[in-house]
Amino acid sequence: MSFDLVLFGGTGDLAWRKLLPGLFQAFRHGSLPSGGRIIGVARDDLDDHGYREFIRQRLAKTGGEKSPQAHEFERFATLLHFVRMDLSKPEDYAQLAQVLQSRGAETVVMYLATAPGLFTTVCEQLAASGLATPSTRIVLEKPLGHDLNSNRAINAVVRRFFDESQVFRIDHYLGKPSVQNLFALRFGNALFEPLWRREHIANIQITIAEDLGVEQRGAFYDGTGALRDMVQNHALQLLCAMAMEPPINASAAAIRDEKLKALRCLQPWTAQTLAQHAVCGQYTAGSIAGQHVPAYREEAGVPAHSQTETFAALRVEIGNWRWAGVPFYIRTGKRMAAREANIVVNFRPSPHPILRTPDGGSNKLVIKLQPQDGLELHLLAEDKASRNAPREHGVQTLAPAHLDLDFDKRFGSERVGAYEGLLLDAIAGRLNLFVRSDEQEEAWRWVQPLLDYWSADGRGPHFYPAGTWGPEAASVMLARDGFAWEHSFGKAKEKLA
Ligand code: BG6
Repeated sequence: MSFDLVLFGGTGDLAWRKLLPGLFQAFRHGSLPSGGRIIGVARDDLDDHGYREFIRQRLAKTGGEKSPQAHEFERFATLLHFVRMDLSKPEDYAQLAQVLQSRGAETVVMYLATAPGLFTTVCEQLAASGLATPSTRIVLEKPLGHDLNSNRAINAVVRRFFDESQVFRIDHYLGKPSVQNLFALRFGNALFEPLWRREHIANIQITIAEDLGVEQRGAFYDGTGALRDMVQNHALQLLCAMAMEPPINASAAAIRDEKLKALRCLQPWTAQTLAQHAVCGQYTAGSIAGQHVPAYREEAGVPAHSQTETFAALRVEIGNWRWAGVPFYIRTGKRMAAREANIVVNFRPSPHPILRTPDGGSNKLVIKLQPQDGLELHLLAEDKASRNAPREHGVQTLAPAHLDLDFDKRFGSERVGAYEGLLLDAIAGRLNLFVRSDEQEEAWRWVQPLLDYWSADGRGPHFYPAGTWGPEAASVMLARDGFAWEHSFGKAKEKLA
Protein backbone atom coordinates (compact mmCIF):
# COMPACT_ATOMS: atom_id res chain seq x y z
CA MET A 1 0.00 0.00 0.00
CA SER A 2 1.45 3.37 -0.91
CA PHE A 3 1.19 6.04 1.74
CA ASP A 4 2.47 9.51 2.49
CA LEU A 5 2.75 10.41 6.16
CA VAL A 6 3.09 14.17 6.60
CA LEU A 7 4.48 15.22 9.98
CA PHE A 8 3.53 18.81 10.73
CA GLY A 9 5.99 19.88 13.42
CA GLY A 10 8.49 17.51 11.79
CA THR A 11 11.50 18.91 13.68
CA GLY A 12 9.70 19.32 17.03
CA ASP A 13 10.28 17.36 20.21
CA LEU A 14 7.36 15.02 19.73
CA ALA A 15 8.50 14.15 16.20
CA TRP A 16 12.03 13.16 17.08
CA ARG A 17 11.42 11.83 20.58
CA LYS A 18 8.37 9.67 19.86
CA LEU A 19 7.11 9.62 16.26
CA LEU A 20 10.28 8.98 14.28
CA PRO A 21 11.60 6.44 16.80
CA GLY A 22 8.19 4.71 16.53
CA LEU A 23 8.32 4.77 12.74
CA PHE A 24 11.88 3.53 12.75
CA GLN A 25 10.96 0.58 15.00
CA ALA A 26 8.04 -0.26 12.70
CA PHE A 27 10.48 -0.14 9.77
CA ARG A 28 12.96 -2.34 11.63
CA HIS A 29 10.24 -4.85 12.54
CA GLY A 30 9.16 -4.95 8.90
CA SER A 31 5.65 -3.76 9.76
CA LEU A 32 5.77 -0.38 8.05
CA PRO A 33 4.10 -0.93 4.68
CA SER A 34 6.65 -0.61 1.90
CA GLY A 35 6.20 2.14 -0.65
CA GLY A 36 5.73 4.92 1.86
CA ARG A 37 7.15 8.38 2.37
CA ILE A 38 7.53 10.25 5.64
CA ILE A 39 7.45 13.95 4.94
CA GLY A 40 8.61 16.28 7.69
CA VAL A 41 7.09 19.74 7.55
CA ALA A 42 8.49 22.67 9.52
CA ARG A 43 9.84 26.20 9.14
CA ASP A 44 13.46 25.13 9.53
CA ASP A 45 15.81 25.80 6.67
CA LEU A 46 16.34 22.19 5.65
CA ASP A 47 16.10 20.03 2.54
CA ASP A 48 15.68 16.22 2.34
CA HIS A 49 19.35 15.69 3.02
CA GLY A 50 19.42 18.13 5.95
CA TYR A 51 16.29 16.56 7.45
CA ARG A 52 17.76 13.06 7.23
CA GLU A 53 20.88 14.25 8.99
CA PHE A 54 18.78 16.05 11.64
CA ILE A 55 16.81 12.87 12.34
CA ARG A 56 19.90 10.65 12.23
CA GLN A 57 21.53 12.69 14.98
CA ARG A 58 18.38 12.69 17.11
CA LEU A 59 17.72 8.96 16.73
CA ALA A 60 21.31 8.23 17.72
CA LYS A 61 20.41 9.81 21.07
CA THR A 62 17.51 7.40 21.62
CA GLY A 63 20.19 5.20 23.09
CA GLY A 64 20.72 1.48 23.54
CA GLU A 65 19.40 -1.16 21.23
CA LYS A 66 16.67 1.12 19.96
CA SER A 67 18.97 3.48 18.07
CA PRO A 68 19.53 2.53 14.47
CA GLN A 69 22.72 0.94 13.18
CA ALA A 70 24.33 2.97 10.37
CA HIS A 71 23.19 0.54 7.67
CA GLU A 72 19.63 0.46 9.03
CA PHE A 73 19.38 4.22 9.11
CA GLU A 74 20.67 4.46 5.56
CA ARG A 75 17.72 2.38 4.35
CA PHE A 76 15.20 4.13 6.62
CA ALA A 77 16.47 7.55 5.50
CA THR A 78 15.32 6.95 1.94
CA LEU A 79 11.74 7.27 3.24
CA LEU A 80 12.40 10.70 4.79
CA HIS A 81 11.63 13.92 2.96
CA PHE A 82 11.23 17.52 3.97
CA VAL A 83 8.98 20.38 2.93
CA ARG A 84 9.76 23.80 4.38
CA MET A 85 6.52 25.53 5.31
CA ASP A 86 5.18 28.44 7.25
CA LEU A 87 1.83 27.03 8.31
CA SER A 88 0.16 30.43 8.17
CA LYS A 89 1.00 30.94 4.47
CA PRO A 90 -1.45 29.56 1.89
CA GLU A 91 1.23 29.48 -0.84
CA ASP A 92 3.27 27.01 1.23
CA TYR A 93 0.36 24.55 1.21
CA ALA A 94 0.35 24.73 -2.57
CA GLN A 95 3.92 23.51 -2.50
CA LEU A 96 2.98 20.62 -0.21
CA ALA A 97 0.07 19.81 -2.51
CA GLN A 98 2.50 19.55 -5.41
CA VAL A 99 4.76 17.16 -3.52
CA LEU A 100 1.78 14.96 -2.58
CA GLN A 101 -0.03 15.10 -5.90
CA SER A 102 3.13 14.29 -7.84
CA ARG A 103 2.90 10.83 -6.33
CA GLY A 104 -0.79 10.28 -5.66
CA ALA A 105 -0.36 7.82 -2.77
CA GLU A 106 -3.40 5.69 -1.89
CA THR A 107 -3.38 6.99 1.67
CA VAL A 108 -2.24 10.35 2.97
CA VAL A 109 -1.91 10.74 6.73
CA MET A 110 -1.54 14.28 8.07
CA TYR A 111 -0.09 14.13 11.58
CA LEU A 112 -0.56 17.42 13.43
CA ALA A 113 2.29 17.37 15.95
CA THR A 114 2.11 21.14 16.28
CA ALA A 115 0.86 23.57 18.90
CA PRO A 116 -2.93 23.02 19.15
CA GLY A 117 -3.46 26.70 18.34
CA LEU A 118 -2.53 25.81 14.74
CA PHE A 119 -4.97 22.91 14.25
CA THR A 120 -7.76 25.08 12.90
CA THR A 121 -5.52 26.98 10.48
CA VAL A 122 -3.93 23.79 9.19
CA CYS A 123 -7.32 22.12 8.56
CA GLU A 124 -8.65 25.19 6.76
CA GLN A 125 -5.55 25.52 4.64
CA LEU A 126 -5.45 21.83 3.78
CA ALA A 127 -9.02 22.12 2.55
CA ALA A 128 -8.33 25.32 0.62
CA SER A 129 -5.43 23.69 -1.20
CA GLY A 130 -7.39 20.57 -2.12
CA LEU A 131 -5.62 18.34 0.40
CA ALA A 132 -8.65 17.34 2.45
CA THR A 133 -9.81 14.48 0.22
CA PRO A 134 -11.67 11.28 1.21
CA SER A 135 -8.34 9.40 1.21
CA THR A 136 -6.80 11.83 3.72
CA ARG A 137 -6.51 10.86 7.38
CA ILE A 138 -5.78 13.40 10.03
CA VAL A 139 -4.06 12.60 13.31
CA LEU A 140 -4.50 15.10 16.13
CA GLU A 141 -2.14 15.10 19.09
CA LYS A 142 -3.30 16.09 22.54
CA PRO A 143 -3.99 18.57 23.99
CA LEU A 144 -7.04 19.03 21.81
CA GLY A 145 -8.14 22.29 23.31
CA HIS A 146 -7.65 23.93 26.64
CA ASP A 147 -11.17 23.50 27.94
CA LEU A 148 -14.61 22.35 26.82
CA ASN A 149 -15.26 25.33 24.55
CA SER A 150 -11.93 25.29 22.77
CA ASN A 151 -12.22 21.54 22.30
CA ARG A 152 -15.64 21.97 20.72
CA ALA A 153 -14.36 24.76 18.49
CA ILE A 154 -11.46 22.64 17.16
CA ASN A 155 -13.68 19.62 16.59
CA ALA A 156 -16.25 21.78 14.78
CA VAL A 157 -13.61 22.97 12.30
CA VAL A 158 -12.19 19.47 11.85
CA ARG A 159 -15.71 18.16 11.15
CA ARG A 160 -16.27 20.78 8.46
CA PHE A 161 -13.54 19.21 6.35
CA PHE A 162 -13.22 15.62 7.51
CA ASP A 163 -15.60 12.80 8.26
CA GLU A 164 -15.24 11.32 11.79
CA SER A 165 -13.89 8.14 10.17
CA GLN A 166 -10.91 10.15 8.88
CA VAL A 167 -9.98 11.64 12.27
CA PHE A 168 -7.49 9.92 14.58
CA ARG A 169 -7.31 11.61 18.00
CA ILE A 170 -4.29 10.27 19.81
CA ASP A 171 -4.15 9.28 23.43
CA HIS A 172 -0.88 7.37 23.52
CA TYR A 173 -1.92 5.49 26.67
CA LEU A 174 -4.36 3.52 24.53
CA GLY A 175 -1.42 2.32 22.45
CA LYS A 176 0.55 0.99 25.41
CA PRO A 177 0.81 -2.82 25.34
CA SER A 178 -0.08 -2.87 29.04
CA VAL A 179 -3.34 -1.00 28.37
CA GLN A 180 -4.10 -3.47 25.57
CA ASN A 181 -3.58 -6.17 28.15
CA LEU A 182 -6.12 -4.51 30.38
CA PHE A 183 -8.74 -4.88 27.65
CA ALA A 184 -7.59 -8.49 27.18
CA LEU A 185 -7.96 -9.13 30.91
CA ARG A 186 -11.48 -7.77 31.03
CA PHE A 187 -12.92 -8.98 27.76
CA GLY A 188 -10.84 -12.07 27.01
CA ASN A 189 -11.37 -13.75 30.38
CA ALA A 190 -14.71 -14.62 31.90
CA LEU A 191 -13.14 -15.17 35.32
CA PHE A 192 -13.34 -11.66 36.69
CA GLU A 193 -16.55 -10.43 35.07
CA PRO A 194 -18.94 -11.75 37.78
CA LEU A 195 -16.80 -10.00 40.41
CA TRP A 196 -16.38 -6.76 38.47
CA ARG A 197 -19.14 -4.83 40.24
CA ARG A 198 -20.25 -3.03 43.35
CA GLU A 199 -21.20 -6.16 45.25
CA HIS A 200 -17.58 -7.37 45.29
CA ILE A 201 -15.34 -4.35 44.82
CA ALA A 202 -14.64 -1.90 47.65
CA ASN A 203 -12.65 0.64 45.63
CA ILE A 204 -10.45 1.03 42.57
CA GLN A 205 -7.27 3.12 42.56
CA ILE A 206 -5.64 4.43 39.41
CA THR A 207 -2.14 5.86 39.82
CA ILE A 208 0.01 7.43 37.12
CA ALA A 209 3.10 8.71 38.90
CA GLU A 210 6.14 10.21 37.22
CA ASP A 211 9.49 10.93 38.80
CA LEU A 212 10.40 13.44 36.10
CA GLY A 213 9.59 17.11 36.50
CA VAL A 214 8.46 19.40 33.71
CA GLU A 215 11.86 19.27 31.98
CA GLN A 216 12.09 21.85 29.19
CA ARG A 217 8.33 22.28 29.00
CA GLY A 218 7.90 24.62 31.98
CA ALA A 219 6.17 27.43 30.09
CA PHE A 220 3.78 25.06 28.29
CA TYR A 221 3.07 23.03 31.41
CA ASP A 222 2.34 26.08 33.49
CA GLY A 223 -0.60 26.91 31.24
CA THR A 224 -1.76 23.29 31.38
CA GLY A 225 -1.42 21.54 34.76
CA ALA A 226 -1.96 17.91 35.72
CA LEU A 227 -5.73 17.92 35.25
CA ARG A 228 -5.52 18.86 31.58
CA ASP A 229 -2.24 17.08 30.90
CA MET A 230 -3.01 13.67 32.42
CA VAL A 231 -6.49 13.35 33.93
CA GLN A 232 -8.78 14.63 31.16
CA ASN A 233 -7.24 12.11 28.76
CA HIS A 234 -4.95 9.31 30.00
CA ALA A 235 -6.46 8.73 33.45
CA LEU A 236 -10.06 8.91 32.21
CA GLN A 237 -9.25 6.48 29.39
CA LEU A 238 -7.91 4.04 31.99
CA LEU A 239 -11.01 4.59 34.07
CA CYS A 240 -13.17 3.82 31.03
CA ALA A 241 -11.24 0.62 30.38
CA MET A 242 -11.98 -0.46 33.95
CA ALA A 243 -15.58 0.70 34.20
CA MET A 244 -17.10 0.28 30.72
CA GLU A 245 -19.54 -2.48 29.88
CA PRO A 246 -18.31 -5.23 27.55
CA PRO A 247 -18.74 -3.90 23.99
CA ILE A 248 -20.94 -5.92 21.65
CA ASN A 249 -17.94 -6.59 19.40
CA ALA A 250 -14.39 -5.37 18.90
CA SER A 251 -15.22 -2.67 16.36
CA ALA A 252 -14.13 0.92 16.94
CA ALA A 253 -17.76 2.05 17.09
CA ALA A 254 -18.75 -0.52 19.72
CA ILE A 255 -15.74 0.17 21.94
CA ARG A 256 -16.13 3.93 21.72
CA ASP A 257 -19.88 3.72 22.41
CA GLU A 258 -19.20 1.91 25.68
CA LYS A 259 -16.43 4.29 26.73
CA LEU A 260 -18.72 7.21 26.05
CA LYS A 261 -21.45 5.62 28.17
CA ALA A 262 -19.01 5.17 31.08
CA LEU A 263 -17.97 8.84 30.84
CA ARG A 264 -21.60 9.91 30.81
CA CYS A 265 -22.11 8.02 34.06
CA LEU A 266 -19.43 9.99 35.92
CA GLN A 267 -21.19 11.74 38.78
CA PRO A 268 -21.25 15.47 38.07
CA TRP A 269 -19.34 17.71 40.47
CA THR A 270 -21.25 19.47 43.24
CA ALA A 271 -20.11 22.25 45.57
CA GLN A 272 -19.41 19.58 48.18
CA THR A 273 -17.48 17.15 45.99
CA LEU A 274 -15.44 19.97 44.43
CA ALA A 275 -14.28 20.89 47.92
CA GLN A 276 -13.79 17.37 49.27
CA HIS A 277 -13.13 14.98 46.41
CA ALA A 278 -10.32 16.72 44.57
CA VAL A 279 -6.84 17.61 45.78
CA CYS A 280 -4.37 19.64 43.77
CA GLY A 281 -0.69 19.71 44.63
CA GLN A 282 2.56 21.28 43.51
CA TYR A 283 6.05 19.97 44.17
CA THR A 284 8.63 21.82 46.18
CA ALA A 285 12.35 21.05 46.16
CA GLY A 286 13.25 17.54 47.19
CA SER A 287 15.32 14.60 46.21
CA ILE A 288 14.87 11.93 43.56
CA ALA A 289 17.24 8.95 43.52
CA GLY A 290 19.51 10.77 45.93
CA GLN A 291 19.77 13.87 43.73
CA HIS A 292 18.50 17.26 44.81
CA VAL A 293 15.82 18.57 42.43
CA PRO A 294 14.38 22.10 42.36
CA ALA A 295 10.85 23.17 43.21
CA TYR A 296 8.33 23.51 40.37
CA ARG A 297 8.39 27.28 40.84
CA GLU A 298 12.14 27.27 40.22
CA GLU A 299 11.87 25.41 36.90
CA ALA A 300 12.74 27.33 33.71
CA GLY A 301 9.70 29.06 32.24
CA VAL A 302 7.58 28.75 35.41
CA PRO A 303 6.50 31.96 37.19
CA ALA A 304 7.77 32.35 40.76
CA HIS A 305 4.23 32.35 42.18
CA SER A 306 2.66 29.79 39.89
CA GLN A 307 -0.49 28.14 41.23
CA THR A 308 -0.47 25.40 38.57
CA GLU A 309 -1.03 21.89 39.88
CA THR A 310 1.65 19.27 39.20
CA PHE A 311 -0.40 16.68 41.12
CA ALA A 312 -4.07 15.83 41.16
CA ALA A 313 -5.98 13.28 43.23
CA LEU A 314 -9.70 12.75 42.68
CA ARG A 315 -12.45 10.64 44.12
CA VAL A 316 -14.89 9.74 41.42
CA GLU A 317 -18.17 7.85 41.41
CA ILE A 318 -19.88 6.22 38.48
CA GLY A 319 -23.63 6.39 38.61
CA ASN A 320 -24.92 3.12 37.17
CA TRP A 321 -26.07 -0.26 38.43
CA ARG A 322 -22.65 -1.84 38.18
CA TRP A 323 -20.70 0.82 40.07
CA ALA A 324 -23.03 2.92 42.23
CA GLY A 325 -21.28 3.77 45.49
CA VAL A 326 -17.84 2.37 44.55
CA PRO A 327 -15.18 5.06 44.81
CA PHE A 328 -12.65 5.25 41.98
CA TYR A 329 -9.58 7.16 43.10
CA ILE A 330 -7.30 8.73 40.53
CA ARG A 331 -3.92 10.25 41.31
CA THR A 332 -1.23 11.53 39.02
CA GLY A 333 1.74 13.78 39.52
CA LYS A 334 5.18 14.89 38.46
CA ARG A 335 8.26 14.44 40.64
CA MET A 336 6.73 11.69 42.66
CA ALA A 337 8.65 8.92 44.42
CA ALA A 338 8.80 6.68 41.35
CA ARG A 339 7.72 6.35 37.75
CA GLU A 340 4.90 3.95 38.17
CA ALA A 341 1.46 3.46 36.69
CA ASN A 342 -0.90 0.87 38.06
CA ILE A 343 -4.52 0.11 38.84
CA VAL A 344 -5.47 -1.62 42.06
CA VAL A 345 -8.83 -3.31 42.43
CA ASN A 346 -9.59 -3.79 46.11
CA PHE A 347 -12.16 -6.49 46.64
CA ARG A 348 -14.46 -6.51 49.63
CA PRO A 349 -13.28 -8.56 52.59
CA SER A 350 -14.77 -11.92 53.37
CA PRO A 351 -18.35 -11.30 54.60
CA HIS A 352 -18.02 -13.71 57.55
CA PRO A 353 -14.38 -14.13 58.54
CA ILE A 354 -13.90 -17.30 60.55
CA LEU A 355 -10.11 -17.35 60.27
CA ARG A 356 -7.60 -14.94 61.75
CA THR A 357 -7.02 -12.39 58.99
CA PRO A 358 -4.18 -9.86 58.98
CA ASP A 359 -5.16 -6.19 59.25
CA GLY A 360 -6.47 -4.88 55.96
CA GLY A 361 -6.23 -8.38 54.54
CA SER A 362 -8.48 -8.84 51.57
CA ASN A 363 -8.07 -9.77 47.95
CA LYS A 364 -6.74 -7.34 45.43
CA LEU A 365 -5.84 -7.38 41.80
CA VAL A 366 -2.94 -5.16 40.83
CA ILE A 367 -2.71 -4.27 37.18
CA LYS A 368 0.82 -3.00 36.58
CA LEU A 369 1.02 -0.73 33.57
CA GLN A 370 4.56 0.65 33.81
CA PRO A 371 7.48 0.36 34.19
CA GLN A 372 6.64 -3.35 34.49
CA ASP A 373 3.75 -4.81 32.60
CA GLY A 374 2.05 -7.44 34.70
CA LEU A 375 -0.63 -8.62 37.09
CA GLU A 376 -0.59 -9.52 40.74
CA LEU A 377 -3.46 -11.34 42.38
CA HIS A 378 -3.29 -10.95 46.14
CA LEU A 379 -4.80 -13.76 48.17
CA LEU A 380 -4.75 -14.94 51.75
CA ALA A 381 -3.16 -18.27 52.60
CA GLU A 382 -2.37 -20.17 55.75
CA ASP A 383 0.52 -18.54 57.53
CA LYS A 384 3.07 -21.35 57.70
CA ALA A 385 5.09 -19.49 60.29
CA SER A 386 2.20 -19.70 62.72
CA ARG A 387 1.51 -23.38 62.08
CA ASN A 388 3.42 -24.58 65.11
CA ALA A 389 2.32 -21.75 67.37
CA PRO A 390 -0.52 -22.55 69.76
CA ARG A 391 -3.83 -21.81 68.05
CA GLU A 392 -6.41 -19.83 69.86
CA HIS A 393 -9.48 -22.07 69.77
CA GLY A 394 -7.83 -23.91 66.88
CA VAL A 395 -8.26 -20.97 64.49
CA GLN A 396 -5.88 -20.81 61.55
CA THR A 397 -3.91 -17.60 60.97
CA LEU A 398 -3.74 -16.21 57.46
CA ALA A 399 -0.95 -14.30 55.74
CA PRO A 400 -0.97 -12.42 52.45
CA ALA A 401 0.50 -14.15 49.39
CA HIS A 402 0.26 -13.26 45.73
CA LEU A 403 0.40 -14.67 42.23
CA ASP A 404 2.64 -12.64 39.99
CA LEU A 405 2.44 -12.58 36.21
CA ASP A 406 5.16 -10.67 34.38
CA PHE A 407 4.12 -10.18 30.77
CA ASP A 408 7.63 -9.28 29.65
CA LYS A 409 8.95 -12.59 30.99
CA ARG A 410 6.02 -14.49 29.52
CA PHE A 411 5.94 -12.89 26.07
CA GLY A 412 9.38 -11.22 25.77
CA SER A 413 10.14 -7.58 26.35
CA GLU A 414 10.45 -6.64 22.69
CA ARG A 415 6.91 -5.31 22.24
CA VAL A 416 5.39 -2.87 19.83
CA GLY A 417 5.73 0.58 21.42
CA ALA A 418 2.70 2.85 21.89
CA TYR A 419 3.52 5.28 19.08
CA GLU A 420 4.76 2.53 16.79
CA GLY A 421 1.42 0.73 17.01
CA LEU A 422 -0.70 3.86 16.80
CA LEU A 423 1.14 5.17 13.74
CA LEU A 424 0.68 1.83 11.99
CA ASP A 425 -3.02 1.92 12.92
CA ALA A 426 -3.41 5.42 11.48
CA ILE A 427 -1.73 4.35 8.24
CA ALA A 428 -3.96 1.27 8.05
CA GLY A 429 -7.10 3.20 9.02
CA ARG A 430 -7.85 1.28 12.25
CA LEU A 431 -9.73 3.55 14.64
CA ASN A 432 -10.13 1.29 17.70
CA LEU A 433 -7.41 2.91 19.75
CA PHE A 434 -8.26 6.51 18.92
CA VAL A 435 -10.66 8.79 20.71
CA ARG A 436 -13.95 9.85 19.12
CA SER A 437 -14.99 13.50 19.36
CA ASP A 438 -18.05 12.86 21.55
CA GLU A 439 -15.94 10.83 23.99
CA GLN A 440 -13.35 13.56 24.19
CA GLU A 441 -15.95 16.25 24.61
CA GLU A 442 -17.64 14.31 27.40
CA ALA A 443 -14.32 14.06 29.27
CA TRP A 444 -13.84 17.83 28.94
CA ARG A 445 -17.42 18.46 30.04
CA TRP A 446 -16.81 16.45 33.19
CA VAL A 447 -13.50 18.09 34.17
CA GLN A 448 -14.60 21.65 33.31
CA PRO A 449 -16.26 22.48 36.69
CA LEU A 450 -13.10 21.32 38.46
CA LEU A 451 -10.89 23.41 36.17
CA ASP A 452 -13.09 26.42 36.94
CA TYR A 453 -13.10 25.70 40.65
CA TRP A 454 -9.34 25.35 40.93
CA SER A 455 -8.64 28.43 38.86
CA ALA A 456 -10.99 30.51 41.04
CA ASP A 457 -9.80 29.01 44.33
CA GLY A 458 -7.42 31.50 45.96
CA ARG A 459 -5.97 28.88 48.32
CA GLY A 460 -3.74 27.39 45.63
CA PRO A 461 -2.23 23.91 45.55
CA HIS A 462 -1.06 21.80 48.50
CA PHE A 463 2.71 21.47 48.44
CA TYR A 464 4.62 18.19 48.46
CA PRO A 465 8.36 17.66 48.41
CA ALA A 466 9.69 16.18 45.16
CA GLY A 467 10.32 12.46 45.59
CA THR A 468 7.21 11.72 47.68
CA TRP A 469 3.77 10.33 46.87
CA GLY A 470 2.04 13.70 46.99
CA PRO A 471 0.40 15.94 49.57
CA GLU A 472 -1.06 14.65 52.81
CA ALA A 473 -4.47 15.96 51.78
CA ALA A 474 -4.68 13.20 49.15
CA SER A 475 -4.36 10.58 51.90
CA VAL A 476 -6.84 12.37 54.12
CA MET A 477 -9.36 12.16 51.28
CA LEU A 478 -9.13 8.35 51.25
CA ALA A 479 -8.96 8.09 55.03
CA ARG A 480 -12.40 9.71 55.20
CA ASP A 481 -13.72 6.65 53.36
CA GLY A 482 -11.73 4.32 55.58
CA PHE A 483 -9.21 3.52 52.82
CA ALA A 484 -5.55 4.27 52.10
CA TRP A 485 -3.58 4.62 48.89
CA GLU A 486 -2.02 1.34 47.94
CA HIS A 487 1.70 1.09 48.51
CA SER A 488 4.06 1.22 45.66
CA PHE A 489 4.38 -2.09 43.83
CA GLY A 490 7.77 -1.18 42.37
CA LYS A 491 10.94 -0.72 44.34
CA ALA A 492 10.04 2.65 45.81
CA LYS A 493 8.51 2.66 49.25
CA GLU A 494 5.50 4.66 50.29
CA LYS A 495 6.72 8.01 51.57
CA LEU A 496 4.29 10.78 52.24
CA ALA A 497 4.97 14.48 52.36
C1 BG6 B 1 2.03 13.11 28.10
C2 BG6 B 1 2.09 14.30 29.03
O1 BG6 B 1 0.77 13.04 27.49
O2 BG6 B 1 2.23 11.93 28.86
C3 BG6 B 1 3.43 14.36 29.74
O3 BG6 B 1 1.91 15.49 28.27
C4 BG6 B 1 3.69 13.04 30.44
O4 BG6 B 1 3.47 15.43 30.67
C5 BG6 B 1 3.49 11.87 29.49
O5 BG6 B 1 5.02 13.07 30.92
C6 BG6 B 1 3.58 10.55 30.22
O6 BG6 B 1 3.61 9.52 29.30
P1 BG6 B 1 4.32 8.14 29.63
O7 BG6 B 1 4.07 7.31 28.43
O8 BG6 B 1 5.78 8.45 29.86
O9 BG6 B 1 3.68 7.63 30.87
